[in-house]
Formats: sequence, C-alpha cells, structure tokens
Amino acid sequence: SAIAAAIRTLPKAELHLHIEGTLEPALALELAARNGVELPWTNVDDLAKQYEFEDLQSFLNLYYQLMAVLKTEDDFRDLMLANLRHAAEDGVRHAEIFFDPQVHMKNGTAFETVLNGLKEGARIGRERYGVTVGLIMSVVRDESVASADELIDVAAPYANDILGIGLDSAEVGFPPHLFEDVYRKAKELGWHRVAHAGEEGPVGYIEEALDLLHVERIDHGTHAADSPAMMERLAAEGIGLTSCPLSNLRLNVVDKPSDLPILEFMNNDMAVTINSDDPAYFGGYIAANYDILVTGLGLKLDDLARLAGNSLAVSFITEEERAALF
Ligand code: HPA
Ligand code: ZN
Repeated sequence: SAIAAAIRTLPKAELHLHIEGTLEPALALELAARNGVELPWTNVDDLAKQYEFEDLQSFLNLYYQLMAVLKTEDDFRDLMLANLRHAAEDGVRHAEIFFDPQVHMKNGTAFETVLNGLKEGARIGRERYGVTVGLIMSVVRDESVASADELIDVAAPYANDILGIGLDSAEVGFPPHLFEDVYRKAKELGWHRVAHAGEEGPVGYIEEALDLLHVERIDHGTHAADSPAMMERLAAEGIGLTSCPLSNLRLNVVDKPSDLPILEFMNNDMAVTINSDDPAYFGGYIAANYDILVTGLGLKLDDLARLAGNSLAVSFITEEERAALF
C-alpha cells in the first residue's frame, strides 16, 4: 500500500533492538553446523515451530539457547551486517543496538570477540548502507550483580567503543535498584543509560530506573499506561520510551493491537518511539512495527512521522552525526 511504502521512506532511528534477536532460524542452523554446536532441531520447519511464546521467559529460553551458535568474530560481523541491510530497507538512518556479553562469555566467547565483530559489522554497514550504529551493552538482570560488576571491569578498557549501558532479560523479581552501583560506574565511564522497565514489571520499576539508575530512556515502558502520574512525569522530563509493538503482542504484554498504549502516550505528549526488539523472533523488522499501528490502531501517516521524529530526537546521536546524516 501507499502508506506501507511511505513508512519505509520516513527517516527514523532504531533504539531498541537486541542484535542476538536478529538471528533468523536459518542462520542459527547454519552457524550451529559451522561451529559444531548441537541444537535439538536440524531443520528450519522444526525450529520455526518453537516461535510460539507465552510470555517473556518462554521467549528468553529459546533466545538464549540459539545464542550459543554465535562463536566467532565473523559470526557477529555477519549478524550485524544482515541486520543493517534490513534497517536500511526500512528507512533506518541510525541504530542504537543492544548486545548481551555476559551470555556470550558464559558460552566461552571472549568479550573482545563479540565487540570486535559487532564493530566491524557496524563499520562496513555504515559504508555500505549509510546507517550509523551505537552499541549499548546490556546487563542481564537475572545474572548476579557480581557478574554485572565483572562485566563493567572487562568492558572499561573499551569504554569509547560503547555508547551506553542497558538492562534486559527476565524483569519481574530483578528490580532496577539492584544495579544502582553498576549504573553509577557506567556513568563514570561516560556511557548513556537506558533500562528495560515496565515490560512485564510494574510501574514502580520505571520509577526506580529513573530515580536510582538515572536512565535517559525507558525500554518498553508499556506499564507506564497504568499510571497517569508516571505518564505526566515521563512527558515533563522528556524521557524517551522505546515501544516494541510486535514484541508486546507476541509476548502477551498486551492482548490485542488496540490495547497498545501508543496513542495514549502520544496524547500525553510522551516521547514514544517505535522499535523492533527481536525481529527474528517477533515476526517483523521496524517497518512492520509501524505497519501494525496503521492496521491495528488506525494511526495516520502524520502520526507515524511524529513517532519517527521522536526516535531521532531521543536518540544519542551527536550534533555532528546528525549534520552528517541529514
Ligand atoms: N525484554 C527483556 N529482555 C530481552 C528482551 C526483551 O524484550 N529481548 C531480548 N532480551
Ligand atoms: Zn528488549
């Protein structure tokens, strides 16, 4: 349709994407064979049947299982490049991309291997597709705080290669306040700060992320819709929200598209943005996440242009980068 084509030409930023969540089933099987990693599935049809999720945890189980096939610098480079090709096709000009080093390190892959591969993919992707990339190192919140501290120490020598710190994985039972010291160190290293909050967790987790982690954006933040006071605060402080519609639907954070709080956030003047989270798992890249707002919520092109504008406004792109891109 005309609007689907227009969506793909809107200049936009992708601010909530886990690089490991771009691992498509066919590539997972190919890398498993290449790297000698055993998986319970040997063909794409069997693996594809595993993509029915009940909640965040049921998704994370498959996501972590498939992450074990990523081993070499080339694997991470190729994953980044494939993702940036999709990004460019969908009108993404700038992407701030999460990676989960604790999981790779547990799988026996060195931090440097992961970082170097992603950086190389980003460098080639910028040349090839004109998309700028920043890396957000994500702390896996259901690992220990000691493990997060160790990660900061491992990453500190590469501080300039990292744009920000994030917090992801199983949310309920792992509240932001546990990571107050970790985020203090991240700030000292010059990193931007974001955290997943209010995806499955309550609005109180959003409040902790703001008050104790001093985050500049909230990832998901879907449950902010439960609190008019929180929506007012997020609007007043200009805190970006990185909504991921297809993710929220596939993980049953909301029951149906009309329950997505996007319009409500927009009507409350919040800096809400549209993102893809884990596109290989949730049925579409970023443009498909904009599409569902048209088909499921009745948004018009000027609404979508505003959302795309928000994404550039709350990105961490510098003024020089902005000038070079537009
Ligand atoms: N939530 C929490 N952790 C994650 C997600 C998510 O949506 N995707 C990848 N890790
Ligand atoms: Zn996420």
